[in-house]
Amino acid sequence: MKRREFLLGSGATAGALGLGGLGLAEGAPELVVQPASFALRGQMTSGMVSLTPNAPPPVLYGKQGEVMRLPVRNTLPDYTAMHWHGMRIPNGMDGVPYLTQMPIGSEEVFDYEFTSPDAGTYWYHPHCMTMDQMAHGLTGVMVIAEADDPGFDSEQVVNLRDFRLDDADQFLPAYTARGAARAGTFGNVQTANWLTEPHYEHAAGSLVRLRVVNTDTTRIYKVHLNSAKARIIAWDGHPVEVEVPMPSADEPLLIGPGQRVDFAVKMPTDEGQTVDLVAKFPGQKHRAMTRLRAVGASVARDLRELRPLPANPAAKPDLTKAEVHEFVFGWTPEGGQPNNGFCGSLGYNFWSINRTPWPGDAAQGVGPLATLEQGKSYVLRLRNESPNLHPIHLHGLVFVPLKSNLRRLPPLLTDTMLLLKDEVVEIALVADNPGDWAFHCHVIEHQKTGLTGFIRVV
Ligand code: C2O
Ligand code: CU
Ligand code: CU
Repeated sequence: MKRREFLLGSGATAGALGLGGLGLAEGAPELVVQPASFALRGQMTSGMVSLTPNAPPPVLYGKQGEVMRLPVRNTLPDYTAMHWHGMRIPNGMDGVPYLTQMPIGSEEVFDYEFTSPDAGTYWYHPHCMTMDQMAHGLTGVMVIAEADDPGFDSEQVVNLRDFRLDDADQFLPAYTARGAARAGTFGNVQTANWLTEPHYEHAAGSLVRLRVVNTDTTRIYKVHLNSAKARIIAWDGHPVEVEVPMPSADEPLLIGPGQRVDFAVKMPTDEGQTVDLVAKFPGQKHRAMTRLRAVGASVARDLRELRPLPANPAAKPDLTKAEVHEFVFGWTPEGGQPNNGFCGSLGYNFWSINRTPWPGDAAQGVGPLATLEQGKSYVLRLRNESPNLHPIHLHGLVFVPLKSNLRRLPPLLTDTMLLLKDEVVEIALVADNPGDWAFHCHVIEHQKTGLTGFIRVV
């Protein structure tokens, strides 16, 4: 399978990926938000939400610097809005209800159209009825190809996420007050591309780009590969420019909700040999989430043949002039009444940013957490006052971690910073994309119970 083939999203490619693939360069098929059923674990699970009839949401393929047209039609009775996570696109296309657009009602269409300046691994999910629709399946991967082919033989997308099912394989409530006030409510069925340990075939001895995305609402996935012939080439969409150590069973890589990692993998040279993406779960031993199986005669490629991925065109912050802004993430002092827009409330508030809980979807009268001047550099000091971990995500901009009070942080460009217990991290960015950008925890129960706000760039 050559890269060129999946840019076209051919049927054969979609089959090989185990996920539908849609090439978006030509034409604009409507993305229809629709109910679905799928056998996640034995019996059919109903009440799912997808963009594909009774199958996982497709991988959306685009190309760096080329326009993508993504008309989203809502066929559910509830409202929705689609967000393109990690993409530095115009604010009006960001998909945040009330902040950047009105929610998309039943049978309405919203025409998203944008050009990504960056290549890499991104993803999409609703930002209205977020808990409901994400927990029931509506999370998909976006692949933005580099303008120049980096030289892989094939690719493998892996969408990691949990579902919360009962003994009859039907949905349990996606959230609980107990979970929302702590680390979140965890699913009990862990899947890759909605499957349990799918096997994918790739040519023996070939070079595979493995794109791993954590689209779960709660779980921090702890992963490694059981192969030494691999390296990390990108993190949260952006090529890594420093050496990043490969994770191991003892020191797995933590991928928070919303985060992505790209591996370059050299397939074993003998037919039938395998490389596993392995995850560790509390109280369990390690488990393969996905298996790559070598097929055919070896094509004898070498990791050294790969050209380094070209850096994305992100501006470098000027730290000599950067103004500092403080953000504190913690419980909410007074609880506060959540106010419901059309985008679903969990019915309580537990969390806050700078001691103010975001009261609801519309959040009328709540101003920006900070106002940044377009083109200037800033340092944001992020302080976690709680014992829980928070993947803190900023829309529309990229940032680089500078330092932590707990660990050494490699300077990897990102849109999501996983804050550890009692951690204080400084990040730096250039405020180069104007608009109101959502800034929130990506544990959706935290996001939906107060740990949200927005940063304004003018
Ligand atoms: Cu991936 Cu505001 O979200
Ligand atoms: Cu986002
Ligand atoms: Cu959180």
